[in-house]
Parts: sequence; C-alpha cells; structure tokens
Amino acid sequence: MTQIPRAGVIGNPISHSLSPKLHSYWLERYGLQGSYTALKVTEDELETTLRSLPDQGFIGANVTIPHKVSVMQFADQITDRATLIGAANTLIFKQDGRIFADNTDGYGFMANLRQGAPDWDPKAGPAAIFGAGGAARAIIVALADAGVPEIVISNRTRAKAEALRADFGARISVIDWVQADKMLVDANTVINTTSLGMVGGQDFKVPLDKLPSTAVVTDIVYNPLKTPFLEAAEQRGCTVVDGLGMLLHQGVPGFERWFGQRPEVDEATRRAVLA
Ligand code: ATR
Repeated sequence: MTQIPRAGVIGNPISHSLSPKLHSYWLERYGLQGSYTALKVTEDELETTLRSLPDQGFIGANVTIPHKVSVMQFADQITDRATLIGAANTLIFKQDGRIFADNTDGYGFMANLRQGAPDWDPKAGPAAIFGAGGAARAIIVALADAGVPEIVISNRTRAKAEALRADFGARISVIDWVQADKMLVDANTVINTTSLGMVGGQDFKVPLDKLPSTAVVTDIVYNPLKTPFLEAAEQRGCTVVDGLGMLLHQGVPGFERWFGQRPEVDEATRRAVLA
C-alpha cells in the first residue's frame, strides 16, 4: 500500500501558522491525496525531527521562525537563492534520505506584487525598505534579481542594515532610522519588513508625507490585512498590496514539488485561509 504523502510546517511557536489551512485547502480543492500539519519543534529537536520525518511519510516541509537559518546546516543540497539569502523555508525529502532546501520568500514577495499591482515595474526606480531582518534579506535578493536600480534600507539598528549592504553590495545604501522618511522621496517601491503595525504590537510611526503617489507600497505584516502603514499610503494615492499574498505565494513552489500540482492563489484561497 502506498503511503499518503505528508508535509507540514516546522517552527516554534507554530499554532498561529496559516500554512496548514493553506495547504489543506489546496489539497481539498485539487482532490489530492495528502496531508499538511503544524509541527512544533524546538532547536534541540530540529535535527532528529528532520531525520525522522521521511520515515513517517513526510515528503517535505516548510520551515518558519526560528529555524529558517539553522535548518541550512542539515541540508544536503541548497538552491542558489537560499544560499544567497542564508535561510531556507521549503524542504524536500528525497527518497535516499537527502534533504533539499530552497527559499521561496522572495518568490512569494514578487508574485504577490505582480498579482496585486500588475502595472508595477521594479526597474522604474529605487526601492525603500524599512527593516533589516530575515524577511528583508529575502526581499532584497528578489528585488535585485528583478533589476531594481537602487535599494535604500533603514533599520532601527543601523548595523544590521549595514551588514546587508556589505553582503549585497553596490546597489544598496543605508539611511538612519530617524531620517527614514527621506528615502521615500523618489521611491518606486516601498516595503515595510519590520513587525511594526502588527495587531497588539507597536505602531509604525515614520511619517509618509514624502511618499509619492506613484509608489507601489507593501507590508509583510498581514494582521491586520490593511495595516495603518498601508492605509496611510493608500490615502496618499499609492497602489498598496497587503502582505497576506506573500505568505500564500511562498507556499506555491513547495506544494507543487510535494503534491505535483501548481496551486492557484486567488480570492477563494484568501477566503479559505482567513476563514
Ligand atoms: P524577520 O526575520 O521576520 O524580518 P526579525 O529578524 O526579527 O524578523 O526582524 C524584525 C525587524 O523589525 C527588524 O528590522 C527590527 O529592527 P531591529 O533590527 O532594530 O531589531 C524591526 N523592528 C522590530 N520592532 C521594532 C521597533 N519597535 N521599532 C523599529 N523597528 C523594529
């Protein structure tokens, strides 16, 4: 008897993850055999869990906070983009026990913007990024790949933004957090990659009065769906794209590899995940 293919998301905490809802919805929608579950795994348990999952019928997994970086050391094969980003969010367990690691966050970011702002041209001008954490890394790699001419980063802890410049080079400049609004002046793409604006958290306080109405603005925070930052950008006439789509799109490549069907990200998918 062939086993039903299993996949899941590895993280800690994990109960808040929307990935089980997303992948379970897709499995049902396409009438596929399979399951997708949340796996709470501590740092100490990470390696043994990874080694034991294939025996339990797992063909792959997503990886989320706090394991995206540490999981790399257990991978036998790593895609170029995951290597560049220095983190993985999608694993494939090969039949011979080897682990293949990829990072689809940048893909998810780009696919979300292309879907939500079809006229957006990344090459048309500079990108301004708030924040310099793991999400910013993936987004910088994706933007550079898409031909963005210049990327300006502002982060509360300036040294982290400087580290990104050191890693990703010439196209990147850094601006002090207290002057972050200055990077908006000629921005074509504006991204909040900080946790500011998340429900129950601190507010995003950088003034947006220099933000041009021609900019496409997005946020990786998706709870609330329309963050105060996106509300303010929309009021200035900008095209805004919420962050939920990035999460949905980053799940596409993994689902396709594991279950053999490229899934849609559409209104029905959004409704299913938000239900
Ligand atoms: P992720 O991997 O999701 O990007 P992270 O690495 O913890 O998460 O990064 C969170 C980002 O939000 C960082 O840029 C962080 O700034 P610091 O590098 O200074 O910590 C930013 N951030 C979090 N809380 C913030 C706050 N109150 N004010 C400004 N920036 C904040």
